[in-house]
Amino acid sequence: MNLFQSAMFRLFAVGFILEVDAGPTTATKPPALDLSSFTRADFEKAIATVGTNKLRPSAERVLGSLPSYSSVRPGGLTEEELSGYMRKASQLFETGEAVPVADVSLDSSLDAQVRQPMLNYVSFFTNNAVDVYLLVQKPLNQKKWNHYSIVRDKTVSPPIAYYADVLPDKIHFKGAECFACHASGPRIIRPFRPDLLSDADQARQINDYITEQEVPPLHFPADEPRVEYGGALTMKRCAKCHSDSADRGPLYRVHGPSIRALVEYGHMPPKGALAPDELTQLEDWLASK
Ligand code: HEC
Ligand code: HEC
Repeated sequence: MNLFQSAMFRLFAVGFILEVDAGPTTATKPPALDLSSFTRADFEKAIATVGTNKLRPSAERVLGSLPSYSSVRPGGLTEEELSGYMRKASQLFETGEAVPVADVSLDSSLDAQVRQPMLNYVSFFTNNAVDVYLLVQKPLNQKKWNHYSIVRDKTVSPPIAYYADVLPDKIHFKGAECFACHASGPRIIRPFRPDLLSDADQARQINDYITEQEVPPLHFPADEPRVEYGGALTMKRCAKCHSDSADRGPLYRVHGPSIRALVEYGHMPPKGALAPDELTQLEDWLASK
């Protein structure tokens, strides 16, 4: 299955990484992730802690399918139905029926914390009504794996993206917390280093799918309505792809940690690094009120 439409994305597909000397850290620049002594063997050992029974090989089902949805009705899926899909994905993972890709991700924490490596399992499921993404994640140095989900409700046009924590006893829909890194719905799987990825082919298929979808409007739960995020980033080098009229939604200051991480590691903009004066312009905007 080849879902690719834009050759450009190949440029920053999984495995492409630039080594950047982060230089001295300043108040606005968080410390770089240091994984220099973390080997592929360490990675395999760390991801196995999720339970090897959950990782049965299943070569054919790269994109997991769900039973199709029949009761189409106007107004989109209910919270109960959305929760049901998220719960189902989480259970399929627990019983070894998902086909997850594991990696150590790049922009793994907010500026407020020291950046620490995150271990991720990303699984994808789809049917005629929804695309379900499941993230099973833990900080490298912690024990507990947490489940998060993004669901695109495709029964409405345009589809709407929902974010939630998948907790043992409930599905907790979230807004701002997830929006801070997910400005436009799902993100591509981008390992910190090419060898910290369990299956590059499968990651590419999921990434192809993510990049070819139009950016969905994002749902903010009723108890947590969307706030005013201030002015959007207007720098041409970014806004040509990140604005209301472009492929990705606008970026705000709240996206600072993701912006810094992606720029710092040479992923954004996808072509041609920012010149020093452009970097200064970006930092000034991030630091302004
Ligand atoms: C600090 C930044 C950050 C925050 C906050 C964050 N995410 Fe993510 N998320 C990421 C990154 C980066 C990836 C891609 C990870 C990889 O390379 O595997 C990701 C991946 C995911 C995925 C897998 C599908 C995809 O987009 O690749 C899901 C599901 C997900 N996140 C859900 C959530 C939910 C729900 C929240 C809020 C509770 C949240 N995330 C908050 C950074 C973040
Ligand atoms: C040629 C188009 C293009 C340009 C130019 C571009 N981006 Fe992106 N950007 C993308 C695409 C496509 C994604 C989503 C896929 C991914 O995660 O790489 C993305 C993702 C991001 C994200 C993660 C949030 C999201 O929307 O998923 C941030 C933050 C970001 N870019 C910042 C920037 C900044 C800052 C600049 C300017 C310095 C920039 N980008 C320039 C295409 C672009």
